[in-house]
Amino acid sequence: MLCLGIETSCDDTAMALVQDDILLHALTADQNDVHTLFGGVVPELASREHYRRIGPLYDTLITAWPEAARPDIIAVSRGPGLLGSLLVGLAFAKGLTLATGATLLGVNHLHAHLLAAGLERKLIFPSLGLLVSGGHTHICRMESPSAISIIGRTLDDAAGEAFDKIAKMLGGPYPGGRFIEELGRGGTVDPAMFTKPYLNNDNLDFSFSGLKTAVAARLPAYPPGSITPALRSFCASVSWCIAETLAAKLMRALTKERAAGREVNALIMAGGVAANSVIRETMRKTAETAGLPLILPSLPLCTDNAAMVAYCGGLLAAEGRQHTLSLSAVARGQAIPDDALYSYA
Ligand code: KG4
Ligand code: ZN
Repeated sequence: MLCLGIETSCDDTAMALVQDDILLHALTADQNDVHTLFGGVVPELASREHYRRIGPLYDTLITAWPEAARPDIIAVSRGPGLLGSLLVGLAFAKGLTLATGATLLGVNHLHAHLLAAGLERKLIFPSLGLLVSGGHTHICRMESPSAISIIGRTLDDAAGEAFDKIAKMLGGPYPGGRFIEELGRGGTVDPAMFTKPYLNNDNLDFSFSGLKTAVAARLPAYPPGSITPALRSFCASVSWCIAETLAAKLMRALTKERAAGREVNALIMAGGVAANSVIRETMRKTAETAGLPLILPSLPLCTDNAAMVAYCGGLLAAEGRQHTLSLSAVARGQAIPDDALYSYA
């Protein structure tokens, strides 16, 4: 099955072509140059940029891979995301569906992140998935590619949002996660610098807004523009604190699942923040302690991309699912309906 994936949920316009579980080609047009001026994504500008970029991106794709004009499946991120941005991708996908006769599939962007590593290795179920991106920090129980339930979530800022806001306070670019990671490279971690946020409870939720406040309080000690060992230690301690917090809650989730007699055969981490080397290393140690394999996508599959959307769409189509042209876009914060039709059951 040849699947064309379309991703426009936030500020990356992306398309990819996947044949079963093989990635043939992937393209991404980011908008960092536009949003960096504002220190975050401006929704109205994001949708306009998607509209401007999506046609030329498709032209580039079919020039490289003429087969992309005749896909079996067209998979598109339907949410959660910025509504105006999603609508551009959905309208384009629906137009292509009409023109090509392909099967349309609306994909949950978060599920696509969590399943992305399936393009590189065999996924293992049931597993616990940690999704860490700019908009979400979720712990999910993953029974199968289509049975994924959220068991922990952020109450305020997502981990990526915390990185982005801290980078902004330091005068860095948007998105800021990589900037903080790179500044922290070689810096000495001070575990006492920041309290691991929202651990002193019994739940699986996250709250990173307190960390942001703690960072702001220490900031005057780091004058902008000069990269000192103290600044490196500061940034290394931010990454360390976020990594340890994520790992502690994931371990707590695993303990709860095991205590309830529910099988867990692997840990999965996905999303843009999963590209962070400190967090990847911490998760490797966590999985080792838990005695479970850790499934991590390679760096290009961590941040927003269309390969994961195409792959996820292919998995759903293989279960006999499809959408009609009434497929709706779902904004951030709203539940994604399970409204696919079954072409066979
Ligand atoms: O998954 P993603 O590309 O988009 C969303 O669905 O949100 O994630 C973007 C987030 C941004 O907040 C960005 O700062 C963060 O991922 N990010 C990182 C790194 N690379 C991207 N955070 C920490 N370290 C990184 N190396
Ligand atoms: Zn994403």
